[in-house]
Amino acid sequence: MLPKNFNSSTRILTTVNQSIEQIEKDVCLHLEKASDVAEVQDLRVLYLGRKGLITQALKGISQLPKAERPAAGKKANQIRTAVEHAIQTALKRIESQAAEEGALDVSLPGRHAAYGSLHPVSQIQKRVCDIFVRLGFDIAEGPEVESDYYNFEALNFPKNHPARDMQDTFFVSDDIVLRTHTSPLQIRTMEKTTPPVRIVMPGKVFRCDSDLTHTPMFHQVEGLLVDTDISFGDLKGILTTFVHQMFDSKTRLRFRPSFFPFTEPSAEVDILCVMCRGSGCRVCSQTGWIEILGSGMVHPALYENVGYPPGKYTGFAFGMGVERIAMLKYGIDDIRKFFENDIRFIQQF
Ligand code: DAH
Repeated sequence: MLPKNFNSSTRILTTVNQSIEQIEKDVCLHLEKASDVAEVQDLRVLYLGRKGLITQALKGISQLPKAERPAAGKKANQIRTAVEHAIQTALKRIESQAAEEGALDVSLPGRHAAYGSLHPVSQIQKRVCDIFVRLGFDIAEGPEVESDYYNFEALNFPKNHPARDMQDTFFVSDDIVLRTHTSPLQIRTMEKTTPPVRIVMPGKVFRCDSDLTHTPMFHQVEGLLVDTDISFGDLKGILTTFVHQMFDSKTRLRFRPSFFPFTEPSAEVDILCVMCRGSGCRVCSQTGWIEILGSGMVHPALYENVGYPPGKYTGFAFGMGVERIAMLKYGIDDIRKFFENDIRFIQQF
């Protein structure tokens, strides 16, 4: 609130003669109560403006008797300095009060710490491995930059064999590649293990391929079980258990004859399409079935390559794409979504 009745010129002249302490006290009182910048500006106009109290007082000095003028002038100037100082102090106070209020609004809800979580592909990879670990398998890993020998040769892909064309290989040099699958770990594991071998091997693999269902890097989980007297029945039993635990216990599956150089016989496992339940849709290309993994009985050539005695052991192997399983489980139709790292997508898992 602005002080009233300060405007009469009689009062202005009297003001000059008032004690400097009294004027200062008045001004400070008003400024201390000012609660915003506009109020302070009004007070500045009232005291220091062209028609303001102090300006008028200074003008009024000329009308005083000559002898009183120097002392009155000095007083008026002191008042002006004091008022300017008080205005600055008030502005600073209002400013810092506003800043404090802005910095701490105690009525706002608290900020929660954002917890991170595993990427959906890591979650599925872990789930796949966990299922096999419960069935007695161990976990192993190996190099992503692999020799031609482990990636192809030892897996019974002869040089220049057309089967090598099935995999669009990234070559580092003539005989070094980015592994195109996790199957080289079958050889690496058998080389240093005497059966029984029960192992699952998760990891990144690389192929020169990119579209809705392929990315140049993706993940596979490889499996290998070698012992005496392992049959195709064991392969079917283990993989059926896996499918029922990964999807649900009613998921139907079928073993479809296939070819891989490192297994004989070979089979691909299809599950009844999770989208249409077999009636045929875009996801299963109207077949009602979806391929989820490759498998087969370990080819005897591999045992020979790792130095196992001929005819002593039998076993099976399998390999699956983790992103593919994740896409089926979560109903995602574009594999690239996993790698764009759009937090709105990733947060849903
Ligand atoms: N390595 C194969 C691929 O990437 C997948 C595969 C098929 C792995 C059959 C196996 C297997 O262990 O037995 O296409």
